[in-house]
Amino acid sequence: MVNVDRCLNVWDLRSAAQRRLPKGVFEFVDRATEDHLAVTNNRSAFERIKLRHRALVDVSGRSVATTLFGKPASLPMAIAPTGAAGLCWHEGELELAKAAAKAQVPLTLSTASMTPMEKIAAVGGRLWFQLYVWKQRELSHQLIQRANRNGFEALIVTVDSPVSPNREYNTHNGFGLPFVPTLRFTLDMARHPAWTGGVLMRYFTSGRFPRHENYPEEYQSSILSGVGSRDALRADSLVWEDVAKFRDMWPGVLMLKGVNRPDDAIKALSYGIDGIVVSNHGGRNMDSAAASLDVLPEIAEAVGDKMTLILDSGVRRGSDIVKALALGAKAVLTGRATLYGTAVGGEAGALRAINILKNEADKTMAYTGCRTVDEVSTDIFWGYRGGNRLMGV
Ligand SMILES: Cc1cc2nc3c(=O)[nH]c(=O)nc-3n(C[C@H](O)[C@H](O)[C@H](O)COP(=O)(O)O)c2cc1C
Repeated sequence: MVNVDRCLNVWDLRSAAQRRLPKGVFEFVDRATEDHLAVTNNRSAFERIKLRHRALVDVSGRSVATTLFGKPASLPMAIAPTGAAGLCWHEGELELAKAAAKAQVPLTLSTASMTPMEKIAAVGGRLWFQLYVWKQRELSHQLIQRANRNGFEALIVTVDSPVSPNREYNTHNGFGLPFVPTLRFTLDMARHPAWTGGVLMRYFTSGRFPRHENYPEEYQSSILSGVGSRDALRADSLVWEDVAKFRDMWPGVLMLKGVNRPDDAIKALSYGIDGIVVSNHGGRNMDSAAASLDVLPEIAEAVGDKMTLILDSGVRRGSDIVKALALGAKAVLTGRATLYGTAVGGEAGALRAINILKNEADKTMAYTGCRTVDEVSTDIFWGYRGGNRLMGV
């Protein structure tokens, strides 16, 4: 068992996760697509921005707390939907949900997750549900109703995934979903007994192999089979009329995830959308995608005062959260950062990741002289001349 307190930052958690998980699982989480341009670019966009510290400000009473959709969050972040927490740790989504509830940040449960939403709802805390849309729309409508019945506060419709991406490394690693035990992956598992015993065998001995518990019943086969369900999921026919229908059906907060253009954001507003997640899916879909952080300013300029903007893709440090806030986001989502934590220590590891980011964000605010998140603006940047092209260039 890893002592998560020895992990001092998200990169330490990543290294520990790499040691614990089979290569196939680790790379499924960590890597992105094709030549890894987008994932690298996401990080560069954060790293390019330089901050100036402000001297002689009393920041002793500062706070990183905020409100999201009128409710408190201890930090301007929420957990991104990822279908992989249940592979990183036995019932990993439950662990993540407990950590999020303890840390008082919202958790987004993915359609592709392996824990039934009813079980997550029992944990409490602020819960958002992410929707992938099936080709058969009524299946998605049923899922929306199920999330509503279970008291989920927000629905996030992912709109950046019309087709499945080219993740060639999964094939090289002999790893994929549905999960077929290839020779390569079997050897990989043998080299990682902590994962094989602590995750895989626990599923086996509990008599319930992971399945996509939030898929419609006809697609709820275990991850050993599940043939065809992914195709049924990728709705390359998803259009704005669907969004109108979701708006009619969903009484709570409705967000679109994966909006990267101001014109799409303006259109979302006209459809009554409450918030958008500016995201390139952590660089996992289109490899030539612009960094989310780079497209954020023009979206903020277009709709920032009318809807809630959340940013994801590449957040690994608390200073990244502060940079995103300065460019117009109200909060960030973390995907891999909290997954690494989950892989290393379940709830304790996920909580460690959140607390690391919180602590780093707090220090960044102190250095830059910001006492509240509302005081964070591009005023803290060095060499910033506005827009998205001139940062540090
Ligand atoms: C392993 C993994 C699985 C993911 N699964 C989903 C998913 O089921 N639905 C979704 O909308 N996004 C999914 N994402 C994307 C995340 O929600 C988020 O956009 C991305 O991870 C943010 O980038 P970051 O990992 O650099 O923080 C996944 C990401 C990862 C790493």
